[in-house]
Amino acid sequence: MKLLEDRIKRDGTVLPGDVLKVDNFLNHQVDPQLMYEMGGEFKRLFENEGVTRILTVESSGIAPALMAGLKMNVPVVFARKHRSLTLTDNLYTARVYSYTKQVNNDISIDKRFIDPDDKILIIDDFLANGQAVEGMLEICKAAQVDVVGVGVVIEKRFQKGHQLVLDAGIHLEALASIASLANNQVTFASDTDK
Ligand code: G4P
Ligand code: NA
Ligand code: NA
Repeated sequence: MKLLEDRIKRDGTVLPGDVLKVDNFLNHQVDPQLMYEMGGEFKRLFENEGVTRILTVESSGIAPALMAGLKMNVPVVFARKHRSLTLTDNLYTARVYSYTKQVNNDISIDKRFIDPDDKILIIDDFLANGQAVEGMLEICKAAQVDVVGVGVVIEKRFQKGHQLVLDAGIHLEALASIASLANNQVTFASDTDK
């Protein structure tokens, strides 16, 4: 998505450890207009998949997932990372390991918000090592529900998550696909294809 690639070129910074910082439009400050456009793009990309519900993880997945849900007219559920007072026993839970933070997080969703007949679209902000997506896939498997797609705002194609989703045979779309962050430079897959 050209609009997003241009924004990454303009506002993204590369940090040590192959991390792309995009906190002025995605991970801290959020640009609603850009999110809205991305929602429309997710709709276009997954139009033929019969999506009935969108699943994401708090917190940075919520903004793009919400706009996709708005455009596709389906509900959005976010898995929670922290146990809430009102979130009780009736949960699907998966353990997610974060390579960047080197911690395990349990993510949970209430069983009431996933239905056996659902066709789930998983949305997230970043696809890096794919641990968050894997956790959501585990939850969907426990719920015996179909996952018809994974849509991410930015994938770092050189890390494990991209292949992990493809190996699962799932329709994967990234609005921006980064081939490399070497030498503090953002190289998009679309640049290397040329
Ligand atoms: P994974 O889910 O793909 O395995 O991600 P990983 O464990 O490698 O990264 C952990 C967190 O860091 C995730 O957010 C993930 O979205 C984010 N992340 C990974 N690579 C990048 C990057 O290059 N840039 C930025 N900005 N974030 C990255 P999280 O901890 O779940 O946090 P949040 O959703 O609350 O923001
Ligand atoms: Na995330
Ligand atoms: Na994040």
